Amino acid sequence: MYDLIVIGAGPGGYVCAIRAAQLGLKVGVVEGREALGGTCLNVGCIPSKALLHASHMLHEAHENFEKMGLMNAHVDVDWTKMQSYKADTVQGNTKGIEFLFKKNKIDWIKGWATIPEAGKVKVGDTVHEAKNIVIATGSSPAALKGVTVDNDAGMIVDSTGALALAQIPKSMVVIGAGVIGLELGSVYARLGAEVTVVEYLDVITPGMDGEVQKAFQKMLTKQGLSFVMGAAVQSAEAKDGQATITYALKKDDSAHSLTADVVLVATGRRPHVDGLGLDALGVTMTDRGFVKVDDHWATSVKGVYAIGDAVPGPMLAHKAEDEGMAVAEVIAGKHGHVNYAVIPGVIYTTPEVANVGLTEEQAKEGGRKIKIGKFPFMGNARAKAQFLGEGFVKLIADGETDRILGCHIIGPSAGDLIHEVCVAMEFGASAEDLALTCHAHPTVSEAVREAALACGGGAIHA
Ligand code: NAI
Repeated sequence: MYDLIVIGAGPGGYVCAIRAAQLGLKVGVVEGREALGGTCLNVGCIPSKALLHASHMLHEAHENFEKMGLMNAHVDVDWTKMQSYKADTVQGNTKGIEFLFKKNKIDWIKGWATIPEAGKVKVGDTVHEAKNIVIATGSSPAALKGVTVDNDAGMIVDSTGALALAQIPKSMVVIGAGVIGLELGSVYARLGAEVTVVEYLDVITPGMDGEVQKAFQKMLTKQGLSFVMGAAVQSAEAKDGQATITYALKKDDSAHSLTADVVLVATGRRPHVDGLGLDALGVTMTDRGFVKVDDHWATSVKGVYAIGDAVPGPMLAHKAEDEGMAVAEVIAGKHGHVNYAVIPGVIYTTPEVANVGLTEEQAKEGGRKIKIGKFPFMGNARAKAQFLGEGFVKLIADGETDRILGCHIIGPSAGDLIHEVCVAMEFGASAEDLALTCHAHPTVSEAVREAALACGGGAIHA
């Protein structure tokens, strides 16, 4: 009898299992993939970061080496080798989780789980008993009407297929200007593909701060990506080694088409709970197909919990991890908590884009008075030395209390810089608290401090 069986070994599930084991529970994790780590480690965050890094290095060699006096560098791309670098990166991490499971005496129950009744998890022909069950089964790419993905054929692919193309395409159409489309679109643009992003809305990265959306699109355009905005993709067809999409422009309903070597479908993800038997079990779902949970991640069935992409909220690995730790604490009789107001989001392009808290648009809702402190990386010595002077830090604080409400960064190391603001927000800090904190010189983090200064008496270097 297990104290806890976790279904799914992605960042939500494996972190939950480790924390539960640390708290003294006997834990099993059911995972049917050949490696632990879920989508994030196997076909998501980690392999994409390897390709983003490699393609960024290529970009540096081509664009910036000579500017620094590094002459005559001739860099060719060996795609097979880049793919094995990516595979090694993935394997190093998935093996690391296997090690952590052993260290924490967590059983990896290999196979796919169903939940025949509360307290029971069936894998193959074996039924395992568990006092508690956590569903951490993640998400999978959402289907787009009129478009059939075939990752094996490699012409109309989703994010999984796009990470393992047989060769670098000469041209690529990306459907959807969200995180996946822009990260992978950037990779292939840097590797030489002509990339066109077709987006339904009039802005990229829906939900982000409006000013950042505009600046980001401008920078990506400068990097060579093309955008077709306000366009609803209606079909995609692969024929004679080429893929063609059709789309209608929203403004006049006119019909158009685009042809490329590869079409990447990146129009969102949906919770992956098929085959668990949740219907028969009587688990209440939301009308969008997520598992409905209360404040403590409990489903409508006693002893069954759910976390991560399977439940509502941002589909982010770190949100799942936080929920995993918190639900383990709850199951162990402690007080698990996630502060949903302080969950950062990062897009790992160059420059990186990061945000936490409210956008300017959200902060102004209801007529609240706000202060905005903005600082351009052009005024930051370290960023400029690295040819990364584009972009800015935008800090939003309450107009009366000066309490930090949100931060939006587009620029070098944005995904790391955002965390000092997260910590500040967790402590209920004011912009002045950040402004009075000494930041080492020369670092790109000075730009965050300067933005905080700009909320008060003014930035020094702007
Ligand atoms: P997304 O929801 O971020 O973006 C999808 C985009 O596709 C939207 O802009 C939407 O308007 C557009 N779209 C939808 N239907 C369309 C159509 N018929 N024609 C044209 N455009 C259409 O989804 P994405 O990028 O697939 O990512 C899925 C999830 O994975 C997101 O929740 C994302 O946060 C997460 N993720 C996070 C990463 C990170 O944190 N760095 C990396 C990769 C994924």
